[in-house]
Amino acid sequence: MTRFICNSGGYVEGKIRVPGDKSISHRSIILASIAQGDSLISGFLLGEDSLNTIKAFQQMGVVIDRDQDRVEVKGVGMTGLKRPSDRLDMGNSGTAMRLLLGLLSGQRFDSCLIGDQSLSSRPMNRVIAPLQSMGADIVSETGGRSPLQVKGGRDLIAIEYDMPVASAQVKSCLLLAGLYADGETIIREPAATRDHSERMLKAFGCDLSSHDSEIKMHGGQQLQACDIEVPADISSAAFFMVAASIAPGSDLLLQHVGINPTRTGVIELLKLMGADISLMNHRELGGEPVADIRVRSAGLKGIEIPRHLVPLAIDEFPVLFVAAACANGITRLSGAEELRVKESDRIQVMANGLQVLGIEVETKPDGIVIRGGNMTAGEIESHGDHRIAMAFAIASLRAGGDITINNCDNVTTSFPDFVELARQSGIRVSSHGS
Ligand code: S3P
Repeated sequence: MTRFICNSGGYVEGKIRVPGDKSISHRSIILASIAQGDSLISGFLLGEDSLNTIKAFQQMGVVIDRDQDRVEVKGVGMTGLKRPSDRLDMGNSGTAMRLLLGLLSGQRFDSCLIGDQSLSSRPMNRVIAPLQSMGADIVSETGGRSPLQVKGGRDLIAIEYDMPVASAQVKSCLLLAGLYADGETIIREPAATRDHSERMLKAFGCDLSSHDSEIKMHGGQQLQACDIEVPADISSAAFFMVAASIAPGSDLLLQHVGINPTRTGVIELLKLMGADISLMNHRELGGEPVADIRVRSAGLKGIEIPRHLVPLAIDEFPVLFVAAACANGITRLSGAEELRVKESDRIQVMANGLQVLGIEVETKPDGIVIRGGNMTAGEIESHGDHRIAMAFAIASLRAGGDITINNCDNVTTSFPDFVELARQSGIRVSSHGS
């Protein structure tokens, strides 16, 4: 088991580029695999989650060659995937499991998706139910948990679906199934969620419309190969945005970060808290906006988190809670029950950790109340959740003593070189055991 030991204090400075965006990396492999022709992906995330996605498509007969973060995918076309000889292991990744379930529902062959202990306890009914109403044949464990057995050869019919939860994974799953369905798939979102699938489908030549929370796409379209440059992941950059904000004397430049407006909730929230963040060198890469982000330390204040920003910062809450612990006053979050079904119950696990460090918190079914204060030393259980582990490493910048974080192996799912980059920028973290 990997443990992080973080010596307290310090500040962050310099220029860093965090690894490629996880959501875009998964989608690039999926779409390139079913496109016609060869696609070159650069800046690909070498995390376990996205590497598992590569492996799954290799198991389905796609030739994928990788040289560091450059990946060449020889697309097999919409009907060219082959029956995998073994189960497809999605490891820790809810995104990979839910997106692949949509794609596999439209194939002619049978398949089975499995995951690690955390993924096997996450809810899949949110995708199984609408896929079944399209005609998919899926068998799950009790309560819609994985392993998920998918029977191939079903003729899917497009549906019109009002999503009960604001989830980009559900939306993307249904769009992938919709590519194989007869008719027009229409999806309505209760709130805006990340739109990488829509942007990338268009880049691969798919005719899709998206207006006022409604996405429409006809099935039966062919995708054409497309080169993708993956920007740095704003969710990984977020740890350093909070680090620079909370540690006095910090001045950090985060390079080449994806700033898709459906992902920038963390910047908006930190600015509302009083952070000093400026975006420069705006450009566009393969339909995705990118910028360099400069963050300097600032006194933060507690805020009431606006509900519409919740889905736009959904993965950044662990580290935003650390920002709230360092802020003056109270931060209140509600409407975020989704945090309870991520890689861990992120409301409870963060509350436990912050309490260990002496911070006053109150949990709610759908949120948390955090009173800013002084953090002490302590030993934290990350529950195998990568973002919890990294969030508490950032907390060490303002803790009164050393912080030990247990069960950090899964940091490699999204941010394999976190410790090196953190140390390079000034965070006193070291990794122990394996
Ligand atoms: C993701 C969507 C989000 C996010 C996850 C990645 C995606 O999940 O938490 O890390 O790539 O579509 P939900 O769609 O379930 O909110």
